[in-house]
Amino acid sequence: MLEDITPFIVMEVLEKAQEMERQGINIIHMEVGEPDFDVPYCVSEAVVNAVRNGQTHYTHSLGIPKLREAIATLYYEEFGVSFSPENIVVTSGSSPAILMVLRTLCDVGDEVLVFNPGYACYANFVRAVNAVPVNIDLCPEDGFRIDIEEVKKKITPKTKAIFINSPSNPFGALIEPEVMRQIAELGITVISDEIYHGLVYEGKAHSILEYTDNAFVLNGFSKRFAMTGLRLGYLVAPTKYMRTLQILQQNLFICAPSDAQMGGIAAIEEADEDVARMCAIYDERRKFIVEGLKRLGFKIWTEPVGAFYVFADARMFAADTYKFAFDILENAHVGVTPGIDFGSQGQGFLRFSYANSLENIKEGLARLEKYLKTL
Ligand SMILES: Cc1ncc(COP(=O)(O)O)c(C=O)c1O
Repeated sequence: MLEDITPFIVMEVLEKAQEMERQGINIIHMEVGEPDFDVPYCVSEAVVNAVRNGQTHYTHSLGIPKLREAIATLYYEEFGVSFSPENIVVTSGSSPAILMVLRTLCDVGDEVLVFNPGYACYANFVRAVNAVPVNIDLCPEDGFRIDIEEVKKKITPKTKAIFINSPSNPFGALIEPEVMRQIAELGITVISDEIYHGLVYEGKAHSILEYTDNAFVLNGFSKRFAMTGLRLGYLVAPTKYMRTLQILQQNLFICAPSDAQMGGIAAIEEADEDVARMCAIYDERRKFIVEGLKRLGFKIWTEPVGAFYVFADARMFAADTYKFAFDILENAHVGVTPGIDFGSQGQGFLRFSYANSLENIKEGLARLEKYLKTL
């Protein structure tokens, strides 16, 4: 139901921080999940050229064919999985793709499984299509690992799908191949959010398509290619749903922005070195922030290996980390995300984003240290 949709708390923290900045207060942002890098040069060139050359019109509703071919090639090269460009819908960021998948799969009252903690918006997208999000609780003491037996217990005749996300927000963790296989074998449709693919520092990410065809893949250009504001994402879907998805896309969104799509082609074809450079920098920050947070007394039950987040246990400092996050913002001038944004199991935790310069992260931790001493 619409009234059940909860605020995206990280945005509330950000908006409060921006209000403080307008009053002249310097804030260190560790709340937002947005790369601090500019788009790779090849992307900005492609976007500018697209605009200058008049590629500013509606495209095919499913996306420019060359972009869809590039996406299919990317998946083949990275995971050895083959699908046709005809199975791709290019979207304005991955968020509209989430909405379209759920609208395609769910009737009123159907259930969709989501991990708790997990990406804040999944449950709200489920509610937006009048379906019901069903939580599968993850425990810090187990390193927030997925226990497949717990997942099975939540499946009912109304279950339409399960969301997975690897590397994950908020943990930066990878789902092990064996667990991916077990999820694929549950017999329910898997919605695999692969948006943090490409940002992996230890181990290897897998695509759900290596394990099952009964799956929708969500992915996009926001994180890997630092293209958040260009709003470009995509959905890979089983053939039987493609016509419905195309009709939804035509009616709801028409098509993704044409210039961003041209940027997307350049990103896939030419930005490998930029991605490697950004990854090396994220990795350095990751090591620094994990050590820094531990030194300040936070406990980290699952150390991040991908994306750009650390989910830190702050229960030794505060039971209610919603209030604590706003206290930190007001007193230490550091933006952090309350764990409750990711579900009830996130209470007592804070999510730190290291999509900020090493210099700012150092300053943020120093401010935090000073503040914690006053408690
Ligand atoms: C796990 C996850 N999925 C999807 C999104 C949405 O990204 P976008 O709409 O920019 O593609 C985000 C953004 O933070 C995310 O963290």
